[in-house]
Amino acid sequence: MNVTVTPAGPFCGEVNVPPDKSITHRALLLGAISQGETIVRGALPSADCLATAQILRQLGIKISWQPDNTVKVQGGKLKESTEILNCQNSGTTMRLLCGLLAGQDFYSVLAGDSSLNKRPMDRVIKPLSAMGGRIWGREGNKYPPLTVLGTRLSGIDYKLPVASAQLKSALLLAGLFAQGKTRVTEPTKSRDHTERMLKDFGAAISRDGKVIEIEESRLQGREVVVPGDFSSAAFLLACALIVPGSQLLLKDVGINPTRAALLLVLERMGAQIEIQNRRSFGSEPVADLFVEAAGLTGTEVAGELVPLLIDEIPVLAALAAAAEGTTTIRDAAELRVKESDRIKALATGLRKMGACVEELPDGLIITGGRRLIGAQVDSCGDHRIAMALAVAAQRAEGPTQIAGAECVDISFPNFWQFFRK
Ligand code: S3P
Repeated sequence: MNVTVTPAGPFCGEVNVPPDKSITHRALLLGAISQGETIVRGALPSADCLATAQILRQLGIKISWQPDNTVKVQGGKLKESTEILNCQNSGTTMRLLCGLLAGQDFYSVLAGDSSLNKRPMDRVIKPLSAMGGRIWGREGNKYPPLTVLGTRLSGIDYKLPVASAQLKSALLLAGLFAQGKTRVTEPTKSRDHTERMLKDFGAAISRDGKVIEIEESRLQGREVVVPGDFSSAAFLLACALIVPGSQLLLKDVGINPTRAALLLVLERMGAQIEIQNRRSFGSEPVADLFVEAAGLTGTEVAGELVPLLIDEIPVLAALAAAAEGTTTIRDAAELRVKESDRIKALATGLRKMGACVEELPDGLIITGGRRLIGAQVDSCGDHRIAMALAVAAQRAEGPTQIAGAECVDISFPNFWQFFRK
């Protein structure tokens, strides 16, 4: 699907952004392996989360997804599926399930779409194998489809080679079904939704600095209220910042500090974002965000900050093209193994619109302030690239045509209708 985006003036009003994708996945997965019922209020009905729900149903779990996005999950023992488990485009689904299925007493096959089947899975297969897991993949156990022959696992002490919440979560979920303690050390912090939620569900989990420890535990089903997704809010925040005259209030947005580091970077770039009405939904901090248009200047993003805004780098790149001066993004090589090679996709798309972008092996250098011109660009099948290019289009002269625009459904269903409104 092609979508044509023409700048149409300020972004004003009060909006609710879609529910958090990472938290929805986790609530479904933990609900499935808990005793009793879990009620997820305000679950995200996006393609990725629906893939997780569908697979859990295949594994024998009763899930009723109501029209108001309240989801009832009847937890229990997972059972072998006679069919392939199709994770579609979702890395979170595949990596977290890999950890969960490694310790069950049955056989599973996990596959994805053409993008997911090219994403590295050795990062989860290696440590799970060290726990006794029996998992195979293509090209020397690197890529999906994956075969998981469940077995009794033993806890390990493992230093993560990359700051990845998906890898960390896979090991913690495996740790729930392993003999002894599982200890995971993060190189730097990544999103901590799994740890927070595991604790809420009654798991024996603790953290000491960068070390997380978990033991075999029985979880108890509960209610989870899902906050608005900061990563989806970021696209709207960005539009309001760069379109003169905008004044936007985003309600009920998750501001977990392991997710919302973009706010710190935006402040450094000259944005003033008011964090109002701070509260929490369960263990997750939530607030309303009020943003007005502002003149932005370039900045530098690297090191420990990167995992805390990894999904916001596409939108940050679009903002950098609209800002004065140079923005340098480094230590972000992980972007090359996301739903697309995001470094390449951003450099290609933004350059087509007239931006000055240098591609680095692990990031981008963007010199802002150039006149942007509407162009024909490509999402590369990646939801966050499609939405980042729609943000850049707000500052372009003339229409921008985005090819492959349907992929926004991965995290932000009805994004285009929402955007038009
Ligand atoms: C996610 C973790 C991140 C992020 C992805 C969602 C999660 O991936 O990019 O969109 O829900 O755990 P990595 O763990 O690969 O960094």
